[in-house]
Amino acid sequence: MSTLNKIARIMVSERRGILAADESIGTMSSRLEGVGVKATEENRRVYRELIVTTPKLAESVSGIILADETFHQKLSNGQTFPAFLAELGILAGIKVDTGAKPLAGAPGENVTEGLDGLRDRVRNYAALGATFAKWRATITIGDGLPSDRAVRANVHALARYAGLCQEGGIVPIVEPEVLMDGSHSLARCKQVTTSVLRSLFDELNLMQVQLDGMVLKPNMVVAGKKCPQQPSVEEVAEATVDALRATVPTFVPGIAFLSGGQSPEKATEHLAAMQQLDPLPWELTYSFGRALVGPALETWRGDNGKREAAQKALSDRAVANAAAR
Ligand code: 13P
Repeated sequence: MSTLNKIARIMVSERRGILAADESIGTMSSRLEGVGVKATEENRRVYRELIVTTPKLAESVSGIILADETFHQKLSNGQTFPAFLAELGILAGIKVDTGAKPLAGAPGENVTEGLDGLRDRVRNYAALGATFAKWRATITIGDGLPSDRAVRANVHALARYAGLCQEGGIVPIVEPEVLMDGSHSLARCKQVTTSVLRSLFDELNLMQVQLDGMVLKPNMVVAGKKCPQQPSVEEVAEATVDALRATVPTFVPGIAFLSGGQSPEKATEHLAAMQQLDPLPWELTYSFGRALVGPALETWRGDNGKREAAQKALSDRAVANAAAR
């Protein structure tokens, strides 16, 4: 078994999942401001420290994705975040993309950037303790969207990113997110997700990415947030698994879903329902951001007297998702 395969299998191992705490400085700042906390570097650090020091987190979390800022910050005890996670038996990951930017010639669509200098950045992060990385591409459904060029540009970047990570000895989380924004139906999301995943695996194969040394992080197949007809939990589970079966090679060790704006409870219900379907060739797990940490942030609101209650809110979500597996 290769080292990459070993790490990927730990990331998706039974009854655990991956916590996405890698919001960019901009996104994390607006989430803090949303709960009345001033968006300073120190407050982002304090909030991330609250997350990673949640008691017993390692029982339901195999890895945590960090942002570059956090990766270089220290906890109150003087340890760096990656060093602290290593002691807990939690793998440290790093978001390496530099965000989704407007794609030339494709109004309303984005391409994720960050390939420049990536080989060196991967080498540095690995030396500082990162064992895996993340790159998120976003695909918008709309009138005539996504365009072929947006899909091709995004899957190309994902595949080149994945190759560079593997060359540098770290496992790539490959995240093509079909966004929930809009009024599209479940069927339309299934069609777009299937076609994006098909293009993605064509490109990963072209770039000779080792499929057993990566983790796929897709969206669940859901209807758009504004769609008047919202599907049942079973319909989401079936549509998602159909899309994955049609496209994801069995060599891929695991699939770790993003939550994408679903409520924490719905995301967990969907994950649990998928495990009830016929045996699947890959591990199905979670790599949630908002659906794991949202209730903790809402509880904390910058009040250190609520620190323990906030950690309990995170712990409850992590335990519920681990149980859903
Ligand atoms: P959400 O679960 O909040 O969608 O975040 C997951 C993630 O890592 C997005 O890139």
